[in-house]
Amino acid sequence: MQAILVTGGCGFIGANFIRFLLEESDFTGRIVNLDKLTYAGNPLSLQDLAARFPQRYTFVKEDICNREGVARVMDAHHVDTICHFAAESHVDRSIVRPDDFIQTNIIGTYNLLQLARERQERITLFHHVSTDEVFGSLGDTGFFTENTPYQPNSPYSASKASSDHLVRAYHHTYGLPTTLSNCSNNYGPYQFPEKLIPLMILNALEGKPLPVYGDGRNVRDWLYVRDHNTAVWAIMQRGRRGETYNIGGRNEMQNLVVVHTICDLLDEIAGRLPGHQSRRELITYVKDRPGHDRRYAIDCTKVERELGWKPAESFETGIRKTIQWYLDHKDWITSVRSGDYQQWIKQHYG
Ligand code: NAD
Ligand code: DAU
Repeated sequence: MQAILVTGGCGFIGANFIRFLLEESDFTGRIVNLDKLTYAGNPLSLQDLAARFPQRYTFVKEDICNREGVARVMDAHHVDTICHFAAESHVDRSIVRPDDFIQTNIIGTYNLLQLARERQERITLFHHVSTDEVFGSLGDTGFFTENTPYQPNSPYSASKASSDHLVRAYHHTYGLPTTLSNCSNNYGPYQFPEKLIPLMILNALEGKPLPVYGDGRNVRDWLYVRDHNTAVWAIMQRGRRGETYNIGGRNEMQNLVVVHTICDLLDEIAGRLPGHQSRRELITYVKDRPGHDRRYAIDCTKVERELGWKPAESFETGIRKTIQWYLDHKDWITSVRSGDYQQWIKQHYG
């Protein structure tokens, strides 16, 4: 792996992945970050890297649905590896308007697979980043394993399931060297504040209502984003080609417990809000998400056993770091919320 094309590198997980590769890992090659810069892509998250790693980091604004454009990037930079994060990622948005999910997650992935197939003598790996949501919803017990049948319930998870099947088919039919990971809910720095954890942190900080869907007892398995990325890197380096790996944090929690933890930590770190005993008073129960999956829980024995991966953070340590990051990065928050960065994108990238 000398030249990795990272798609969606200006999003939450992709930005953390690129930082991890350049700042912390044993990778010595080049990274080309290809991102369309949708509302969720923020070049500010990686603004310092071009100057710090001029020979090793390049950003290109491009849409994975534009096959000719992506082909030019792959050839100009002699890409030999693809790590595919780019996607429309928010379930609520997919329920309101699935169109972009179908285009980017399915057609975009298909384009990348075709381009990789056409360059198969050069491509050493296509790693596809996917989600545990493809497996559907669990009852009170049990875990998703790599053998759990797919049963996606939202337009988002159906589009990701579709892309997973294409990746599998390209390995099976054409022998494309692929790996695939299905991961649980990530949290950490640079996450767009539409997702549960950053939304709750920012609203709680400002004394705004904390909208909890339904009864708040839906369960997610939380994983600190750096731990996700160390697993992705381990799979890319040592994972068996054609295999899928589940990644999870063994941190199953009800949404209400997550929100209570954020409220209590903010009361401790930032001080109580005037007129409030506790930020928990801000919790507001709202209408449930249609088709809301009840419980996700990942069995990640395979990646632990085969590749020796294990998460470094517990939920307690990871959530403290995350809250502190949001407290320390008010400029980033202001920019993503104000839409200023969309103007900045126009100025810099047209
Ligand atoms: P995100 O929404 O924060 O970022 C997505 C990035 O993809 C953005 O930078 C966006 O500009 C880019 N993008 C979107 N459409 C594009 C297109 N057509 N062409 C090029 N770039 C495009 O998403 P995230 O949370 O960082 O998720 C990254 C990947 O990980 C996704 O594939 C998602 O399905 C998967 N995943 C996410 C989680 C999670 O908890 N966030 C968990 C498991 C798997
Ligand atoms: O499981 C992996 C998936 O995790 C990823 O594939 C998705 O890209 C990612 O967005 C995430 O999906 P979720 O739907 O689980 O994440 P979200 O942060 O939107 O919601 C987490 C839980 O919190 C879910 O049960 C819905 C609930 N929720 C969410 C929001 C935004 C609320 O109760 N209130 C809210 O305001």
